Amino acid sequence: MIKNSVLPGIAQITMKLSVIIRAIRGNIYFIAVLFIFLFCSLSLFLRSSRTIQSNTISMVDVILGLQWGDEGKGKIVDYFAPKYDVIARFQGGPNAGHTLYVQNKKVVLHQIPSGIFHEKNINLIGNGVVLDPVILRRECESVASFGIDYRKNLFISERTHIILPTHRALDKASELSKGSDKIGSTLKGISPAYMDKTGRNGIRVGDLLDKSFTTQYIRLRLKHQRLLDSLNFHEDILSWEEEFLDSVDFLRQFNIVNGEYFINDKIRDGKKVLAEGAQGSMLDVDFGTFPFVTSSNTISAGVCTGLGIAPQKIREVMGVTKAYCTRVGSGPFPSELHDGTGEELRKIGNEFGATTGRPRRCGWMDLVSLKFACMINGVTKLIMTKADVLDAFQELKLCGEYIVDNKKTTQVPFQMNKVSIEPVWQTFKGWNKDITTIKDQESLPVEMKEYVQHINEYLGVGIKYISNGPGRDQLIEID
Ligand code: GDP
Ligand code: IMO
Ligand code: MG
Repeated sequence: MIKNSVLPGIAQITMKLSVIIRAIRGNIYFIAVLFIFLFCSLSLFLRSSRTIQSNTISMVDVILGLQWGDEGKGKIVDYFAPKYDVIARFQGGPNAGHTLYVQNKKVVLHQIPSGIFHEKNINLIGNGVVLDPVILRRECESVASFGIDYRKNLFISERTHIILPTHRALDKASELSKGSDKIGSTLKGISPAYMDKTGRNGIRVGDLLDKSFTTQYIRLRLKHQRLLDSLNFHEDILSWEEEFLDSVDFLRQFNIVNGEYFINDKIRDGKKVLAEGAQGSMLDVDFGTFPFVTSSNTISAGVCTGLGIAPQKIREVMGVTKAYCTRVGSGPFPSELHDGTGEELRKIGNEFGATTGRPRRCGWMDLVSLKFACMINGVTKLIMTKADVLDAFQELKLCGEYIVDNKKTTQVPFQMNKVSIEPVWQTFKGWNKDITTIKDQESLPVEMKEYVQHINEYLGVGIKYISNGPGRDQLIEID
């Protein structure tokens, strides 16, 4: 039965097939064209999807500070630099002081990216930076004394704004006029230079190559002089000016590039870029403890505007935090310690400003502001520095809540300087032993592991590296 019913079916299929084959033979040219068309469409589709993919490959990682600056960014950038092709500063200026140890010598970089001592790295000063030619020249001389040919691997964006001698004078005048409300600026001319940028008056590095530079300079200098006169401020600018104009000549001989094409071409060619932040998130002009902040966007969003990189190119945001907290200059600092413990942190941590030498204010780690910083930066990895400074303490504290005007909160308030903030402490047992020679996470003291675990859980982001000394080799990777 089965055989009889199957046989006619097979015959039918065979007949249909032979009809189809005959039809194909008759339309062989049509079929060939159809096949070629399908093949071309498929390969075009595959190629375009590959292009889309390669355009969205994230090639830019960021290292930035999560507190009030001086978290140890310089050391961390110098450590990671060999894994990257380009190291780029995207904001700030000579207010920054990034400390590295090269050939066992201490070097403080203010404007040059911290990849400069690795000959393979290309270093870019991005458009978001404000640049003082005088300080740059001095820094270049210092770098050259280590045998580094900075003319080969240092590039400057033509859109980078220049700090003039009168910007420095205006910074001083502005601070003086504020009296006890002064910001505690580094007096490097940062705020006046950024004001001229947003006020659309500033002079850019590319303008130095233009015939109109002298006219532009004189016009702006006169404007500044009128402002200084109105503030009744007198400074011998002429003596600064001579050095400035010499340094401008020096700057003209640099690799001045169109930074945004420069960096995007590198990314397209598969090069890896590391963006180096200056200052810290709590000094960000929008999200920091305003008005006690710097004048740039120090957070990860600043990478896009400060280099000309699209947001989807950013991959890792590595946030650097000290194992405790410091701040230099005025402004709110909820976890500050005004007692002997604060003094001890300053002494052991050698907490004196790398740019101005001022003593840094010290306190325990503030998890409320740190969580806020992780949120606004989109931090993907945490790096905790200066953990060894806590070696001497029997007891450690973390601030996990604020009492703001008698109410408990885990949020950073709007006007931190106008409300009373009291920290709520959690106490931990200190490890109380020397960790500076430890090389692997297994050997870390159990008390430290508990301290770190609490921080990780509170922040919802993991500490992936612990720095246990200023040296290049003192960094422990955590699984
Ligand atoms: P940056 O501005 O973030 O680069 O930091 P600074 O260079 O202004 O300040 C950090 C200071 O801490 C420098 O003197 C570094 O040499 C030092 N430092 C960095 N990491 C460590 C660490 O893990 N332990 C100790 N003891 N010092 C460190
Ligand atoms: P790095 O990159 C610590 C602080 C100043 C002042 C405020 C405004 O080394 O971490 P400004 O000169 O910008 O007008 O000063 O910001 N400040 C820093 N504090 N580290 C820095 O940079 C800083 N750069 C500026 O002390 O309170
Ligand atoms: Mg510093």
